[in-house]
Amino acid sequence: MRYHQLNSQLFVENRKKFTSLLKRNSLAIFTSNDIYPSSADGHLPFKQHSDILYLSGADQEESILVLFPDAHKESLREVLFLKETNELIAVWEGAKFSEEQVFNISGIKTVFWLSEFERVFNEMAINAERIYLNGNEHTRARVETELRQDRMNTWIKEHYQAHEFERSQPILHRIRGTKTMLELEVMRKAAEITIKGYKRILKFMKPGVWEYELEAEFMHEFLINRSRGFAYTPIIASGNNANVLHYIENNDQCKDGDLVLFDVGAEYGNYTCDVTRCFPVNGKFTKRQTEVYNAVLRVHEGAITLLRPGILLDDYHNKVGDLMTDELLKLGLITKNQVANEDPAWPAYKKYFMHGTSHYLGIDVHDYGLWTIPVEEGMVFTVEPGIYIPEEGLGIRIEDDIVVTKEGHENLTRDIPKTVEEIETFMAQ
Ligand code: GLY
Ligand code: MN
Ligand code: MN
Repeated sequence: MRYHQLNSQLFVENRKKFTSLLKRNSLAIFTSNDIYPSSADGHLPFKQHSDILYLSGADQEESILVLFPDAHKESLREVLFLKETNELIAVWEGAKFSEEQVFNISGIKTVFWLSEFERVFNEMAINAERIYLNGNEHTRARVETELRQDRMNTWIKEHYQAHEFERSQPILHRIRGTKTMLELEVMRKAAEITIKGYKRILKFMKPGVWEYELEAEFMHEFLINRSRGFAYTPIIASGNNANVLHYIENNDQCKDGDLVLFDVGAEYGNYTCDVTRCFPVNGKFTKRQTEVYNAVLRVHEGAITLLRPGILLDDYHNKVGDLMTDELLKLGLITKNQVANEDPAWPAYKKYFMHGTSHYLGIDVHDYGLWTIPVEEGMVFTVEPGIYIPEEGLGIRIEDDIVVTKEGHENLTRDIPKTVEEIETFMAQ
């Protein structure tokens, strides 16, 4: 494993949260993702499904997790089925999990090889009344590909037609949004690595540097700190490229006088960090850049203050919209008349700030979590307002990762220089 092994208690606690919300006498099944072929004998790097990771840490292809908390046999309450390993397989494919390793990782005692799956699963299923199947109910998901889990769901429905079926996703959306102390420790580590990456590139910035050179510096820092790399495709956008919200080419030269927008975060132990900063190529903000930057910073800080236990995310977003409206009025980018006549479904500020302010963060960058319940202690959100002015070649976003606490918040990524003064001072060193 690239990362230091996580505390298995993390997964024990996650499973407890999940199984406590199952109906009586039910089992739930989770599979690995497929390894996706590219062409010839090539394939993409393996990326484990976040639900089996969340519940077991089984970061290996072809794994199957079955949870059956009311199983009569204690040994069948939590079972992992794994790809078989032996000395010959180890020579060709490298080491796969042994029973002992997987217990140390997940805290799960019962492990079978995959060849035993149908027999053991049948014993479990005939003693269960209902089966929870997994899917993808993320509101923004657009999936055209059939997943390993989908094929498993089809197989189960064919073989166990008389069972009742339930969805695991509503439970996962309820519990994954609120992090445990152990999860927060891993997220702090992902944040620490990200902070190191930003401090490294701040020293590397100079007129004429290429966006991909900055990307390489981040990658270097992440890998030497046991991250497997970027938590998501990084955006390194100089000048007007910052106005393309999903600019991922990173292939332009950074010009004297421009700002560079970095939306870059490290993963660690499969948890993510998601940060945006804007830095001047030559180490000094111009007057206009400072003016717009400080407007975004005020909205960002105001939003962090609003993100407290009890607030509903829709109300929070509306309040941040009001803060942004005030700033855009002061900048003269929108008029009072436009605000008075705005369409509530697409307020005037949306012309310059067209994306959301916050999303849940966790194993997935756009993590699971409910929008219908009030914000609670332990939830982790990004806060990322921006102002985008293509006609001026200026696009600014500031993004930090915020843990909601009882009294307010913990900012995981605050140590990355953020005010104009902090940035200029750091770059001048
Ligand atoms: N980096 C993806 C996002 O900010 O949502
Ligand atoms: Mn981001
Ligand atoms: Mn984000």
